[in-house]
Amino acid sequence: MVSQLVKEHPYICCHVGLMLLLLACRKAWCKAKSTVGIPPGSIGLPFVGETLEFIAAINSSKGVYEFVRTRSLRYGKCFKTKLFGETHVFISGREPAKAILNNEGGRFSKKYMKSIAELVGRDSLLCAATQHHKLIRATLLPLFSTHSLSSFVQLFDALVLEATATWTCGSLLIIQDESLKLACKAMCKMLISVESGSELVTMQNEVTRLSEAMLALPLRLPWTRFYKGLQARKRIMDILEKDIGERRSGIASQRVDFLQQILDNKVNEDGFPRLTDREIKDNILTMIFAGQDTIANAMTWMIKYVDENPQVFNTLLKEQLQIEKNVTRNSNLTLEALNEMSYASKVVKEALRMASVVQWLPRVALEDCVIEGFKIKKGWNVNIDARSIHHDPTVHNDPTVFNPSRFPAESKAYSFLAFGMGGRACLGKNMAEAMMLVFLHRLVTNYKWKSIDSDSSIQKWAVFTKLKSGYPIRLISKRGVKNKTV
Ligand code: HEM
Repeated sequence: MVSQLVKEHPYICCHVGLMLLLLACRKAWCKAKSTVGIPPGSIGLPFVGETLEFIAAINSSKGVYEFVRTRSLRYGKCFKTKLFGETHVFISGREPAKAILNNEGGRFSKKYMKSIAELVGRDSLLCAATQHHKLIRATLLPLFSTHSLSSFVQLFDALVLEATATWTCGSLLIIQDESLKLACKAMCKMLISVESGSELVTMQNEVTRLSEAMLALPLRLPWTRFYKGLQARKRIMDILEKDIGERRSGIASQRVDFLQQILDNKVNEDGFPRLTDREIKDNILTMIFAGQDTIANAMTWMIKYVDENPQVFNTLLKEQLQIEKNVTRNSNLTLEALNEMSYASKVVKEALRMASVVQWLPRVALEDCVIEGFKIKKGWNVNIDARSIHHDPTVHNDPTVFNPSRFPAESKAYSFLAFGMGGRACLGKNMAEAMMLVFLHRLVTNYKWKSIDSDSSIQKWAVFTKLKSGYPIRLISKRGVKNKTV
């Protein structure tokens, strides 16, 4: 009967056959597709998800990363959770990091948690979506040229020398506080020509308040941490607005800084129009914030690691004393001198790996996709767990050991994400490394010191990994000066 049907209606049969074949293929494809599961993990309680557990980790001496660490131990390299009403996936591994950070197929954009996004501003480079980001980054990029880095190195060295000149033997120093003051001064001077006085103190205090509010619940109630952060943001924006107004009206004296360069920009090299006032203010604030706490925390961890590893210290000291010999008396360190610091550069890199100051890199999926065999839905937050890549024994040998000599041998692609990678990588990377080298050089070549607190607890509410103690040290003597020991 079937053969008769085929004989009488060959075209119809062919059509039906084809349809059946397509249906079978679709069924098989759907079955295969359904084997791609969503990532394991708990979405916690209705509405709140796991937000309370997240806040508990932020408020503990182990720090916010403990939330991620315990879940990746339980669920593996990719897990999902629900925070502040949104689904978050945390993912580790060099392959997914490569795909996501390079934004392969245009499937990802940057996205921070609501509190962070509101505090840095919607026009901040950190938050801007793809096209908008391209415009702002293209405008800011020339500010970070080698020429400007070169002047910045001398400026920063002068600031370090000015600060260290006030340090006396026998005194107690909190490395975190000293490096925060230095970083704030350097950023404010470079960006808006503020280097002293009440404006500088206000800037440092307000940026600290802003930082402390980054991980808070976004509640606009006067007693909340988030509200205080928003108030701090407003005060910084007011200072910037006044400054921009005075420069435009000619009241302010002529200044050579990043803000002036942005204001003078009519169109940039790629022909992008100049930034709006809102974009300028959001991004000056972003750069002050991005270049202050990160640096201070990284420097503090670096000094702690160096102290704890006498062999590293001795090799470092030997190199730095040699460099010191080549620096003309009373002159500042130069970019060329920093380029000679090959061992110190490894120390900086290793400290950044170990400390992982920025612990994960946040993105959002713009469409449904499959990553590492898991289904990721459009709109989900996807966080690349940089810290776990830095501490993965299959990526770095003995990852808990502070070993600067592991570089460059262990420089596999996407194994070092302290500054991110791809189109959203840190704009201040070279500047940050230079600041760490200058600080390290001046400290080790000028002083002998003793650490007085080995506590490794993490500061509560810190958005970047921060040592609670701030790493206090006692200055023992000036290096090279005899009979000065206290
Ligand atoms: C040790 C110090 C620093 C560390 C560890 C650090 C790390 C990072 C990381 C991880 C990102 C995000 C990458 C991503 O999400 O893919 C970033 C972005 C950024 N950083 Fe840094 N940073 C440091 C210092 C600085 C400094 C000194 C500045 C200078 C002003 C700066 C300016 C920026 C800016 C503007 C962005 C946004 C880039 C963009 O989205 O296009 N950072 N940084």
